[in-house]
Amino acid sequence: MLEALNISKTFDGQKVLNGFSARLEKGRKYCLMGASGSGKTTLINILLGLLKPDSGAVHRAPGLKMSAVFQEDRLLEQMTAAANIALVSTAGGAEIEKLLLSLGIPSESLPQPVSAYSGGMKRRVALARALLAEYDVLFLDEPYKGLDEETRRSVIAIVQKYTKDKTVLLITHDKTETEGYIPLVLK
Ligand SMILES: Nc1ncnc2c1ncn2[C@@H]1O[C@H](COP(=O)(O)OP(=O)(O)OP(=O)(O)O)[C@@H](O)[C@H]1O
Ligand SMILES: [Mg+2]
Repeated sequence: MLEALNISKTFDGQKVLNGFSARLEKGRKYCLMGASGSGKTTLINILLGLLKPDSGAVHRAPGLKMSAVFQEDRLLEQMTAAANIALVSTAGGAEIEKLLLSLGIPSESLPQPVSAYSGGMKRRVALARALLAEYDVLFLDEPYKGLDEETRRSVIAIVQKYTKDKTVLLITHDKTETEGYIPLVLK
């Protein structure tokens, strides 16, 4: 459903991606690990079509819908969590609220703008937004960053439930998050 063929990218004379190829199949889960600066976010940006590779090509199935949790939250700070999500989702208010609450956002925070949220709360709003958008492929760039262990575990379980039968590409530095995921190798 999505194929990268021989992707290369250089920034300021530094080769970041060198002939990366991969094929993402429908319903499979993939993970991408690698040192800071190894080109993981660059690769996701190229797969999403937000950045052009210097050479190589990305082929997407016609009409393929993509969703993402970026490395930064990219929320509209003056809006509520639900309003942020409604910008990209056809989910109804009740469904949005249900997911936010299940991700551990306190009900008293729901009327507040996300500028009042903690870092970990914002991360979960970014995650809820990505999960409630319509998509075939979901890109997750360190989605559980800033969550305490217990919250992380419950959030991961919710993500597994929502992404059942979907294609996912997860970037993480944590091996415990990649069980059952097919590793992609950067080169
Ligand atoms: N727009 C840009 N202009 C110049 N250099 C860039 C740009 N984007 C990324 N780079 C460089 O490319 C390299 C790879 O960056 P990238 O963000 O893809 O790494 P990463 O694997 O996601 O790292 P991290 O784990 O820290 O998020 C880094 O050396 C970075 O400085
Ligand atoms: Mg990155």
